[in-house]
Amino acid sequence: MPLIDRFGRAHDYLRISVTDRCNLRCIYCMGPEGVKHIPHQEILTYEEILQIVAVGAELGIKKIRITGGEPLVRKGVVSLVEGIARIPGISDIAMTTNGILLPHYAAALKKAGLKRVNISLDSMREEVFKKITRRGDLRAVQEGIKASLEVGLQPVKINTVLMKGINHTEVADFLRLAQEYPLYVRFIEYMPIGDHDRKYGRRYLPLSYVKETAASMGLPLIPADPPAGAGPAESFTLPGGKGGIGLIHPISRHFCHSCNRLRLTADGRLKACLYWQEEIPLRPAAGDRAALRELFRQVVGSKARQHLMSASAQHGPVSPGLMRNMSKTGG
Ligand code: 5AD
Ligand code: SF4
Repeated sequence: MPLIDRFGRAHDYLRISVTDRCNLRCIYCMGPEGVKHIPHQEILTYEEILQIVAVGAELGIKKIRITGGEPLVRKGVVSLVEGIARIPGISDIAMTTNGILLPHYAAALKKAGLKRVNISLDSMREEVFKKITRRGDLRAVQEGIKASLEVGLQPVKINTVLMKGINHTEVADFLRLAQEYPLYVRFIEYMPIGDHDRKYGRRYLPLSYVKETAASMGLPLIPADPPAGAGPAESFTLPGGKGGIGLIHPISRHFCHSCNRLRLTADGRLKACLYWQEEIPLRPAAGDRAALRELFRQVVGSKARQHLMSASAQHGPVSPGLMRNMSKTGG
């Protein structure tokens, strides 16, 4: 029996956060001091994750995304990918990463069975990149993007959070990037997750700004079928472009009606929605497949129709679930 909720949505996609730690400190994600870490012993072991994925696969989960924190800072993540790739029923494995460690891992990940990768890149200017990530090395990320293309991870997507006064002047550069390279650049609306950025209200910029910029460049955005795993993105190609553009706007246009995802936190809680507090710890059921199956069903059965983030963007957090940082729930 597949995982279908009260509103008829089938769930075949599980996002797994393998760590809450990160080698960057992006301003939209956490404060300068980072986040309080989950103690090591509370983090799911790879063995536990593989068992949860196997049970999920029996219930119709086909697609896996590995996230963090930064997944590549956890030791042995290549072997986890390898293990997941061997589970019958899993046909797609992707990763979301900040790209810093990709120059080292891209080839091994591809060999282990990773199909595609989303790399966060919010600026192509050294000083702005430093301001956003507070410590990152832009060159490493650029090398990571190159390595991913070279080893044949496909598609390579770039995640760019649009922030007024920070990187909005680079929209034209990112559009050109998608024209010149086989990269799929996804602009993401800045979301009010956590309480770390007091300037949220001033930095939020609707993605209509991307369309306006393209228009002012005389660059038509041609509606297109989304590439593999594009999920809720609105997709476009550019004339003569090698890559593509995606717009992800959870705030101005939420897409809950077609949501097919579940999330597993680094400490083993299964969540039906990033923006709701409800979560069920799976660890107590470790080793018991029937009990794990039951918990999957429980989470899907209690899934809400839609999130309240639009309201929250205007009035401040409405659900305590929003207070959990992105690095803990895994994007
Ligand atoms: N708003 C929008 N996107 C965010 N991400 C993290 N925090 C936020 C936020 N507040 C996205 C980053 C990264 C992915 C892991 O999550 O773009 O690519
Ligand atoms: Fe790290 Fe990603 Fe958060 Fe940036 S957004 S601090 S890369 S987890």
